[in-house]
Amino acid sequence: MDDLRDKYVSLIAAASDESTLEDLRVQAVGKKGEISLQMRQLGKMSPEERQTAGPMLNALRDEINSALAAKKTALGDAALDERLRGEWLDVTLPGRQRPAGTIHPISQVTDEVTAILADLGFAVAEGPQIESDWYNFDALNIPGHHPARAEMDTFYTHRAEGDDRPPHVLRTHTSPVQIRHMEAHGAPCRIICPGRVYRADYDQTHTPMFNQVEGLAIDKDISMANLKWTLEEFFSVFFGTEVKTRFRASHFPFTEPSAEVDIQCRWENGSVKVGEGDDWLEVLGSGMVHPKVLQAGGIDPAEWQGFAFGMGIDRMAMLKYGIPDLRAFFDSDLRWLRHYGFASLDQPNLATGF
Ligand code: DAH
Repeated sequence: MDDLRDKYVSLIAAASDESTLEDLRVQAVGKKGEISLQMRQLGKMSPEERQTAGPMLNALRDEINSALAAKKTALGDAALDERLRGEWLDVTLPGRQRPAGTIHPISQVTDEVTAILADLGFAVAEGPQIESDWYNFDALNIPGHHPARAEMDTFYTHRAEGDDRPPHVLRTHTSPVQIRHMEAHGAPCRIICPGRVYRADYDQTHTPMFNQVEGLAIDKDISMANLKWTLEEFFSVFFGTEVKTRFRASHFPFTEPSAEVDIQCRWENGSVKVGEGDDWLEVLGSGMVHPKVLQAGGIDPAEWQGFAFGMGIDRMAMLKYGIPDLRAFFDSDLRWLRHYGFASLDQPNLATGF
């Protein structure tokens, strides 16, 4: 019995994992284990022998069982210690700084313009940037020979050899969305169409891609007075101060009568202040939708009339946020984006102001 005890006590002490320990348990006190076999011998003993051997074997079995249990606990503790050492984490370390992006001024101003005009009842409409020459020109009363086509420095796409249909163009303005919307939804309507437009032009105030927002309101009794009120209301909210407008007679093929609209401003050390002074700054084209344009959109001009306007979004951003060079908008210079960009959680809305 002493040999058995010594053998198992040292084997258990040396066991390095739970499966070795389980093997030892089976070997010692399992059904066919060495100690169990010894206990089976008790039956063959004389009552006197049994009286001494019985309690000793029981005590040996208990001792081995508790040595197994103690070792099992010790192995478990060691494994846990090892894991805690490996997975140690210093929760007091400062977090990693991740650079935050900014909202581009064009996106910001588009959202501002949309929020203001949506409040006045205008829904947002969109159209393709690659446009047929019919939508971009003809439907807007700009026929093939019209000088406006040449003036717009249009980008044309290529047709396959032998295909003599007129080429598609990169839309030169957002006005074609007027036609697409009229065709799809008819009258009455009140929409704005913000989006990218393209012209082959490049200097401090022109880039080959820029952004416009088109406005269109059609109903039975819409007049120039509604146009003027809408624009003055828009500019006053946009610039956060009352802004007077000046309508100058002009000409666009798609409106009759047509007006270029100036806003009141003052120049001060080379920068411009909107809503004060007695200078004027041209900001958009507008007018009453030409009957031929209504017709092209499938609307009866004897029954309906409306106003339209087209405005440069980039120009609005330059004016409001004092950004001097249009080209920088599209250079993707991180220093510029960080300086002129807006915080991503600062969503423009009428209630909080812009
Ligand atoms: N489409 C014109 C342009 O890009 C702007 C314009 C003028 C739009 C008068 C209009 C309008 O809707 O009525 O130069």
